[in-house]
Amino acid sequence: MSLLDDLADVGRAPGGGYARHGFDRAEAEMRDWFREQAGRRGLDVETDRNGNLWAWWGTPGPDALVTGSHLDSVPGGGAFDGPLGVISALEAVSRMDRPARPFAVIVFTEEEGGRFGVPCLGSRLLTGALAPDRARALRDADGVTLAEAAASAGVDPVHIGRDEEALSRIGTFVELHVEQGRGLDVPVGVGSTVIEHGRWRFSFMGEGNHAGTTVLGDRHDPMLPAAETVLATRRIASTVDARATVGRLVPHPGGTNVIPSTVDLWLDARGHSRDVVAELTGVAERAAAAEGCTLTVTEESYSGTVTFDPTLRDRLTDLLGAPELPTGAGHDAAVLAAHAPTAMLYVRNPTGISHAPEEFAEDTDIEAGVVALTRVLESLSR
Ligand code: GLV
Ligand code: MN
Ligand code: MN
Ligand code: MN
Repeated sequence: MSLLDDLADVGRAPGGGYARHGFDRAEAEMRDWFREQAGRRGLDVETDRNGNLWAWWGTPGPDALVTGSHLDSVPGGGAFDGPLGVISALEAVSRMDRPARPFAVIVFTEEEGGRFGVPCLGSRLLTGALAPDRARALRDADGVTLAEAAASAGVDPVHIGRDEEALSRIGTFVELHVEQGRGLDVPVGVGSTVIEHGRWRFSFMGEGNHAGTTVLGDRHDPMLPAAETVLATRRIASTVDARATVGRLVPHPGGTNVIPSTVDLWLDARGHSRDVVAELTGVAERAAAAEGCTLTVTEESYSGTVTFDPTLRDRLTDLLGAPELPTGAGHDAAVLAAHAPTAMLYVRNPTGISHAPEEFAEDTDIEAGVVALTRVLESLSR
C-alpha cells in the first residue's frame, strides 16, 4: 500500500483521475520512481530501444521469466490500471528468493494509447506489431510527433521498432492487472481470452462559417453527421452483440459561434468490431452526404482475439485454485502472447469501474493478488 501511496500525487489531473501519458512528465516521474524502487531491490534497470524498462534480477535472459505492466493512464484514469501490476511485481521480488532462471520486471511504454492513439505502444513496437515509420509519425493532440516526444524523453526514435534481442529473452510473461468489469467474485482470477478490439477515426469535413449569419439551408455542418454516427454506434453495437464507444469527439476549430469545418470522432469497438465499423461507415457516409459533407474513416489500431497459453492457464488455475475469466480490456500481455507463453492474473474489482477515477480494489484483494503472483513466479522459476 505504501508503494501505491508513493504514486498517489503523480500526474493527478485537476478534475480528478490521472493524466500519465507516453513520454510526458508524469510518466517520466513514474518511471524514475520505478528505477529507484527496482534499485532498492537489487535489480539493474535497462531501457530498451522502445523505451520499455527492464529491471533484471541477475544476468539478463535467455528464457527469462518476465512480469510487469504499465505506468501510464487513460485521460482521467484510476490508480490501479497499470501500476497495480508493477507494484505487485516489485513486492513479489521483495518476498521471493532470487530465482535460478533469468528474471525481470518490465514496464511498458504508453499502454493506453492516451497520447498517440495506438494502445500497447511499447509492446507493439517491441514485437514489430507496429511499424516504426508509422509510429514515428503519430501525433498527439498538440501536434507533437511520437518521434519528437521520444527524443525529448531520451529514447532515440531512429532505433524504435522490433527488438529481436530484447524479445528473444522473454521465456514466459505474466501480467497482473486489476479486473476492469464485474467478472470476478473471488479475489484473484486467471485470464483466458482478450476479445478482439480496434480504434477507428471518423473525420467529417464540412464548411466552417458564422453561426449567426449562415442560414440553415446554406450550412455544411459536420457536427450533424457526427452526431448521427454517435447515436448509430449504440444501435449497431446492440444488434451485432459488440461493445462500441465514442469517447472522444473534437470539432475544429472549436468555437461556440463557429460552425465547425471538421469534426473528428474516435470509435473504440470490441467483439465483432469490424461488423460495427462496416455498418457504421454506411450510416456516417449517408449522413455526411445529406449535409453536403465528406467523410474519411481510418483504422488506427486493430488486435484480433487472443487466447492465453492453455498449458500455462491450467498450471495457474491448479496452483491457485482460481477461476478463469475473459476480458474486454486490452493488455500488453495480449500482444506478447504471440511470442511467448503468456498469462494474466486479475485482482477483483468490487464496483466494476475502471478507466475512471473511481476505479478501486480492496487492500485484502491486492494482498491476495501479490500472494498469487509470488506463488506463480516461484513456481515458474523452478
Ligand atoms: C486498455 O486498457 C484498453 O483496453 O483500452
Ligand atoms: Mn487501461
Ligand atoms: Mn492496463
Ligand atoms: Mn464577429
